[in-house]
Amino acid sequence: MKTTEAPFVQSYIRLTHDAWLKGWHERNGGNLTYRMTDEDVAAVQENLKPASEWLPIGVEVKNLANEYFLVSGTGRFMRNVILDPAANIGIIKVDEQGLNYQIMWGLEGAGRPTSELPSHLLSHSLKKDLTNGANRIIYHAHPTNIIALTFVLPLEDKAFTRELWEMATEDAIVFPEGIGVVPWMVPGGAEIARESARLFKKYNIVIWAHHGMFVCGKSFDEAFSNMDTAEKAAEICVKVLSMGGKKQTISAENLKQLAKDFKVQLNEEFLD
Ligand code: 13P
Ligand code: ZN
Repeated sequence: MKTTEAPFVQSYIRLTHDAWLKGWHERNGGNLTYRMTDEDVAAVQENLKPASEWLPIGVEVKNLANEYFLVSGTGRFMRNVILDPAANIGIIKVDEQGLNYQIMWGLEGAGRPTSELPSHLLSHSLKKDLTNGANRIIYHAHPTNIIALTFVLPLEDKAFTRELWEMATEDAIVFPEGIGVVPWMVPGGAEIARESARLFKKYNIVIWAHHGMFVCGKSFDEAFSNMDTAEKAAEICVKVLSMGGKKQTISAENLKQLAKDFKVQLNEEFLD
């Protein structure tokens, strides 16, 4: 099978195109990685061959040894993935020690994986353990309204979670555990990787102040929807603030009723 025809590659391309249309990916902004299943690897095995030397990941991810990932290229534009997947995305393999990776397909034209690879792989490593292998996606985007709010709301998990829970009735059901906030940091290194992974122990959605969002998901739909739901809540919040602020809202009591009826466990820390 041609790599670009494999269902997991098609799903990846669909997400990148939808997200471009959403306005989340100016220029090379954002990156997406997918941890392939054994079936995915088998489907494209004939096209996988070493296309680079072993290169350092920058963090250690022992439980991802020998795993394959479909990744976006650094400096490549999400907008262009649909036009030329082999130039803009690629498949990498992690080595036996979980310290290095090798390009096995794509990233044509001397491409390299996203500069956020340390954050992605450290988060994959953590979420793989926490979900018994169910989590497959780590996704970073630059959605406008979330970024705007990081200039106005306190950079605290509670402030963001509570504000965004209140912005649409069903939001608390989508992210009942809440949302984490990483203070401003230089992108692309081990430090932002460790801070994001620390927050991913509790949350599935993390905000990078003045930069964007970092989310995970078991499927492309789940990862996309986490980004979409949080960004839509932020858009409502920006509109409400622009109209002079809240005159009424969904109360803590309302949130508790919602949690009871929908049988979700809301993070108690954010309910007082
Ligand atoms: P890359 O082009 O290296 O993926 O970087 C984009 C980005 O959004 C960094 O945070
Ligand atoms: Zn970014």
